[in-house]
Amino acid sequence: MPFIRNAWYVAAWADELGDQPLARTILGAPVVFFRRADRTPVALEDRCCHRALPLSLGRIEGDRLRCGYHGLLFDAAGACVEVPGQTQVPPGSRVRSYPTVETLGAVWIWPGDPKRADRALVPDAYWLDDPGWTTASSYLRVGADYRLLVDNLLDLTHVSYLHRSTLAGDDVEAVTPVETRREEKRIVVGRWMRNVSAPPLYTAASGIGGTVDRWQWITWNPPGNVFFDIGCAKAGTGAPEGDRSQGISMWSTHLITPETETSSHYFFSFVRNYRLGEPPVTEILRDGARHAFLEDLGVLEAQQKALLARPDAPTVDINIDKAPLQSRRILDGLIRAEAHGESASRA
Ligand code: FES
Ligand SMILES: [Fe+2]
Repeated sequence: MPFIRNAWYVAAWADELGDQPLARTILGAPVVFFRRADRTPVALEDRCCHRALPLSLGRIEGDRLRCGYHGLLFDAAGACVEVPGQTQVPPGSRVRSYPTVETLGAVWIWPGDPKRADRALVPDAYWLDDPGWTTASSYLRVGADYRLLVDNLLDLTHVSYLHRSTLAGDDVEAVTPVETRREEKRIVVGRWMRNVSAPPLYTAASGIGGTVDRWQWITWNPPGNVFFDIGCAKAGTGAPEGDRSQGISMWSTHLITPETETSSHYFFSFVRNYRLGEPPVTEILRDGARHAFLEDLGVLEAQQKALLARPDAPTVDINIDKAPLQSRRILDGLIRAEAHGESASRA
């Protein structure tokens, strides 16, 4: 399995998890999410230990979840605490429970060793929960390996071809080189484009237009969190030197959780520092991002199908693959290290 298990993954945007159980497959395992009476999120294996009915088809009772078939009642730790019609609960009546944390507007799950689940390891995407920024969040299920999404996000060149009408600026973009650097386990890719036209989506959301200096700085944090520090400022006002006061900034935030080996949960948010609290602007950005990412989705799912049809057929690498190839190497190393650590701790 090409997964890192000891990591926090987004399971849902916080407002997706309401008063009903939510079923979501995470790293190949069916999981049910629900909220306790105090709203704390709970994640349990979505399979009753009696006759395997998904518990997500049952109902929440206070801090507990009751199976919808024969009524076994499970507490938030996954232990069966009641079997209707008998006084004894059979030994071993339990389902797996997972650590969760709610922060940054999302519910996160730790699919790996619960003892290693440290809240401090949630990626630092502070802008998702900061009064100086406004989010425009959305979700898509993508029928593709999460690593294809990471490849896509680390590759700026496709913007000029695939997102011509949405994210692309002018033709300068297709030929402006990117800088790639590795920072420990992270990869940073980016560039400055001076004296270029503003992308249509930026203009629609902020009103900024004409000639701008534009930046795109992307950081990939393994396994699947990619943060775009993007924006533009009136040309020649000093943005490349650090003064962004004549411009607009956004964090285009991409949080990817593997569903299976060939499908992914894709949580994204366009977060801005201008025209805060203006719902029409939020809608422009949410719709714009969704429209653009649906263009990616079509490509990614077609790519996944072709790869599954001929998994061993050769492909070539070109210069623009530098960052995606580096990210694959880092991921492979982390996955190997995790597997090694697990077998060492079993020995
Ligand atoms: S399947 Fe859940 S109680 Fe029987
Ligand atoms: Fe894209």
